[in-house]
Amino acid sequence: MNSLKLDENQLIENFEAKLAKNEMIEPKDWMPAQYRKHLIRQISQHAHSEIIGMQPEGNWITRAPSMRRKMVLLAKVQDEAGHGLYLYSAAESMGISREEMLEQLHTGEAKYSSIFNYPTLTWADMGAIGWLVDGAAIMNQVMLQRTSYGPYARAMVRICKEESFHQRQGYEIMNVLASGSPEQKEMAQDALNRWWWPSLMMFGPRDEESPNSAQAIKWKIKRETNDQLRQRFVNQTVSQVEKIGLVVPDKAIKWNEAKKGYDFGEINWDEFWTVVKGNGPCNKLRIANKIKSHDEGAWVREAANAHAEKNNKTKAA
Ligand code: 3HC
Repeated sequence: MNSLKLDENQLIENFEAKLAKNEMIEPKDWMPAQYRKHLIRQISQHAHSEIIGMQPEGNWITRAPSMRRKMVLLAKVQDEAGHGLYLYSAAESMGISREEMLEQLHTGEAKYSSIFNYPTLTWADMGAIGWLVDGAAIMNQVMLQRTSYGPYARAMVRICKEESFHQRQGYEIMNVLASGSPEQKEMAQDALNRWWWPSLMMFGPRDEESPNSAQAIKWKIKRETNDQLRQRFVNQTVSQVEKIGLVVPDKAIKWNEAKKGYDFGEINWDEFWTVVKGNGPCNKLRIANKIKSHDEGAWVREAANAHAEKNNKTKAA
């Protein structure tokens, strides 16, 4: 029987049976409207994060301390653009257009990760971002390789491979600075102090304050909660901080044998929501830059569309 003949309850039953068997939901499969809406929101905002995330690091490409560092940073920023394109394509497979998503970003209707609204003040910030921000992103994205929507899960597999390189190059920058001159070590510690807490905020609000998590877990969009991933990130990162001789900027950090993890201090949730709601240090700058580059790039889109149209006409003739 095809979907047209089955009633809604039967369709939901079939959908949930697929999830129960850990089968992927594909673009042509029937899915509840809310599932589609939830994923369009999450995937498009993930894509926006990748694209906006190019700005803080792009700020240092022309000021990298060596040709090697410049090439590595350039490659990373280019990777992020590619991640954005994969994710926009995954979102488009759910029936939203690129133009609509970009409009939502430019008008402030759509979110992107709060982390990209902080300024990059020194070269050490390139290390802290690669190490902590991409490290936190990997923690989340490895989990998303098992998300129930096929195109999203497959995009994650490719993205995670590239993120690992991003994290490693960032940690290497921090290690070199931390074992350099006292001024270099101080620069690394300062960057760690400024990026530590905003990196923990990347995982989202506490589980009990997350309006989307329960549904995301039910539909296997999320396989782990915000707090579980955040805890795993802290557990992994504290030893990395100590290994390069820096200090975690949280006096409450303490190993808790009972839970086999670190206890850590309270996140500043007022700061989190202030930034998420568009009032962080760089929100307005990031969106203004994005709109400017979109407008300046209009001629490229027009030329590409004209070329595609001419090609289609030639093929049709
Ligand atoms: N920044 C901005 N908004 C955030 C946020 C953050 N750090 N954390 C949560 N929010 C928003 C959510 O989008 C949601 O708002 P919405 O309903 O209007 O979309 C609200 O706060 C409540 O949060 P929830 O936890 O209920 O929302 P989710 O279930 O969607 O969980 C999430 C939030 C964990 C970010 C989830 O959306 C997710 O896993 N997204 C995919 C991964 C992603 O987007 N990562 C961003 C970084 S990408 C990156 O770092 C690129 C790398 O190359 C450096």
